[in-house]
Amino acid sequence: MGDRSDRVPMMTRRTRRSTIGPTPAVPHSQHANSGCKQQGTVGDKQPGYTRHSNGKVKEEEKQEADETVTSTTRNEKNRITERLSCHVLQESLLSSASGYRNYRGILNWCVVMLVLSNARLFLENLIKYGILVDPIQVVSLFLKDPYSWPALCLVIVSNTFIMAALYTERRLSLGTISESTGTFLHFVNLTTLLCFPSATVLTLTSMTPVGGVFALGVYTILFLKLYSYKDVNMWCREMRHSRARTLTRSHSCPSVARSNGSAVHSHVTYPGNLTHRDIYYFMVAPTLCYELNFPRSPRIRKSFLLRRLFEMLFLMQLLIGLVQQWMVPTIQNSMKPFQDMDFSRMMERMLKLAVPNHLIWLIFFYWFFHSSMNFVAELLQFGDREFYRDWWNSETVTYFWSNWNIPVHKWCLRHFYQPIMRRGVSKWVARTAVFLLSAFFHEYLVSVPLKMFRLWAFMGMMAQIPLAWFVSRFLRGNYGNAAVWISLIIGQPVAVLMYFHDYYVLHYVPQS
Ligand SMILES: CC(C)(COP(=O)(O)OP(=O)(O)OC[C@H]1O[C@@H](n2cnc3c(N)ncnc32)[C@H](O)[C@@H]1OP(=O)(O)O)[C@@H](O)C(=O)NCCC(=O)NCCS
Repeated sequence: MGDRSDRVPMMTRRTRRSTIGPTPAVPHSQHANSGCKQQGTVGDKQPGYTRHSNGKVKEEEKQEADETVTSTTRNEKNRITERLSCHVLQESLLSSASGYRNYRGILNWCVVMLVLSNARLFLENLIKYGILVDPIQVVSLFLKDPYSWPALCLVIVSNTFIMAALYTERRLSLGTISESTGTFLHFVNLTTLLCFPSATVLTLTSMTPVGGVFALGVYTILFLKLYSYKDVNMWCREMRHSRARTLTRSHSCPSVARSNGSAVHSHVTYPGNLTHRDIYYFMVAPTLCYELNFPRSPRIRKSFLLRRLFEMLFLMQLLIGLVQQWMVPTIQNSMKPFQDMDFSRMMERMLKLAVPNHLIWLIFFYWFFHSSMNFVAELLQFGDREFYRDWWNSETVTYFWSNWNIPVHKWCLRHFYQPIMRRGVSKWVARTAVFLLSAFFHEYLVSVPLKMFRLWAFMGMMAQIPLAWFVSRFLRGNYGNAAVWISLIIGQPVAVLMYFHDYYVLHYVPQS
């Protein structure tokens, strides 16, 4: 906006000069740029131009010429006045009173500086360590032994829990088991779903930490999905019972055989949704919240799918490369200051790690929430593509947590926050309970695979509550936004260094 308003007076002045001057006051190059249309306009207004034979037209031309002469005289006067005074009452652009808001150039400068300083870091890193990128090494992070695939086997076993949930729901829908028995069976299923993989990861020596994170990640997603599946089917039964009380038999919930995942999209009602196809569609769909009829996109766009696939493959390689080349050496170099408890060097290492860590996190965000989720959604014709919102504009910590990971946020709202709020629990208690649950899962996903319980992830998540209060109470607008960014940029490397330090001490430092 500021850009346009700045340009307007200049444009007007330039146009006036090019149309009134009988002799070209504009340099030749400017004429060339003005194009045919502008030259034609100048020519048409020249006095004494005898192209028309009609007398009326000549009269008009004469009048026009007189007007031009008058306006030339007026403009000549203006020009002389302009020459005499050259100052206007105005503020400097950078003072806030000027109302100037167009900082596009400054933003570009920031990007250029960022690229240049990172290019320097990149070169420094290459000179210091050489090329550390090794794609084969990634495989060893998942497998210790090429003939043993514990994480994958664990993931395959998870199928049993899906089947258990489906059969419990089928029996509940038929009325062969009571609601309380069904709830108990779901409770056993979901508890085992969390305990069994963690016990396996903790006891199996062939399981690597990365393999463990992968397997537990799959089980956590499964837990959240099956919890949602149980809740939604229960709500459907409640609705069926309440309708059955009010409607006649002929109007009560008709069962339709086609469900989520079928080739022909049709509306399904309970218990027509209790099929293998429906539950497996939900298991692979990029959402944690179950619905009987997901919104579906009309067709698979091949070019969109290929673009997302290309992004997924490229960004995956980039992530691996950045971790191996940039993050690992920085973490390794941080061990000594942490062991010596040298605070100034610890701070320096932590800030050094903050840059690659943050960059990797941003790339990961795009890779997971945009490329991968859209790829799966497109493939499954899953219509709801709101996987994230504009978290980068967060001015409060709660806005960030409600907008960066929409599948988890939606699940938290639908299956945890709102149900406990409906029971009369206050907003702050409900919010604390959600963060407590989230902190538990964060710790579960880190501590179990690393086989050490330090609670850094748990505390990091719980620290969001006082941080949220502080930011909303004392910081507004851009300051709030900066506080959210700082907490992201600094908070994560602190947690990474804490875990790495403890893991290193536990496994590589000889115990006296
Ligand atoms: C805790 C959390 C759910 C709060 O979300 P929020 O959007 O700030 O919650 P709000 O208090 O604004 O309420 C949200 C909705 O709850 C509903 N709600 C509010 N009070 C309610 C009540 N008393 N009863 C029922 N529903 C209620 C409303 O529908 C409201 O929606 P609206 O905004 O359209 O009015 C959110 O911060 C969160 O998801 N945190 C955890 C995120 C997380 O751990 N992510 C992990 C990513 S790795």
